[in-house]
Amino acid sequence: MIAYRELGPGEFRSSIRALVAVYAAAMSPPDRTLSGREAIMERHAASPGFRGLVAQADGEFAGFTYGFHGETGQWWHDMVAAALATRTSAAASAAGHVTPGGWLDDSFEVAELHVLPRWQGNGIGRSLLLTVADGRPERTAVLSTADAPTRARRLYRAVGFTDLLTDFRFSGAEPPYAVMGATLPLSADTAPPRSPRPSSW
Ligand SMILES: CC(C)(COP(=O)(O)OP(=O)(O)OC[C@H]1O[C@@H](n2cnc3c(N)ncnc32)[C@H](O)[C@@H]1OP(=O)(O)O)[C@@H](O)C(=O)NCCC(=O)NCCS
Repeated sequence: MIAYRELGPGEFRSSIRALVAVYAAAMSPPDRTLSGREAIMERHAASPGFRGLVAQADGEFAGFTYGFHGETGQWWHDMVAAALATRTSAAASAAGHVTPGGWLDDSFEVAELHVLPRWQGNGIGRSLLLTVADGRPERTAVLSTADAPTRARRLYRAVGFTDLLTDFRFSGAEPPYAVMGATLPLSADTAPPRSPRPSSW
């Protein structure tokens, strides 16, 4: 039985150690990066419009997501804004009603979405993403993910995200990322989950 619950900034902060453990299990990052990840999440919890959401199963966190209102002065926002101003994918241009810069003008930035490996493939990630973006006041949702044919990429496309930037590097050493954007609300209908949407949050 999966229960979905929103975490306010305070509860999110006090849960960061456990949430980073979910991140570590899902992403297998180098151990040395984990304390930096905790610091980033601590900072993000103070962002305007912060919303965090967890999926709990058997008394533990099975997955989580969070996001906030994107603003000038935030590292990710400024990096992506600069890149969008100079290079824009065909998909972003073809999206028509949103100009390249417009993707960030009034955006909900989905910063993290992770599900423990043993719980993946059961609709939890999809539910977390749809729920965290549900009812947001922003016009668009934006995120970055590995520029590869991953389950995450399929999920994002299925709910309406399109590539804004591909082969994008936040810093020289990292693997290439895709920056994706969707106009809100997300499309919950494109690939209906095989289990009912959570009603308990
Ligand atoms: C990406 C991630 C968050 C997706 O979460 P998830 O819970 O595994 O995803 P879902 O179960 O919602 O959807 C995944 C698949 O399950 C299917 N599915 C959805 N609901 C389902 C259900 N009730 N029962 C069975 N399968 C279901 C979906 O169709 C989808 O199929 P696909 O993988 O063939 O495209 C998760 O796999 C993860 O944490 N991956 C590693 C970390 C990562 O990449 N994070 C994103 C970084 S940007």
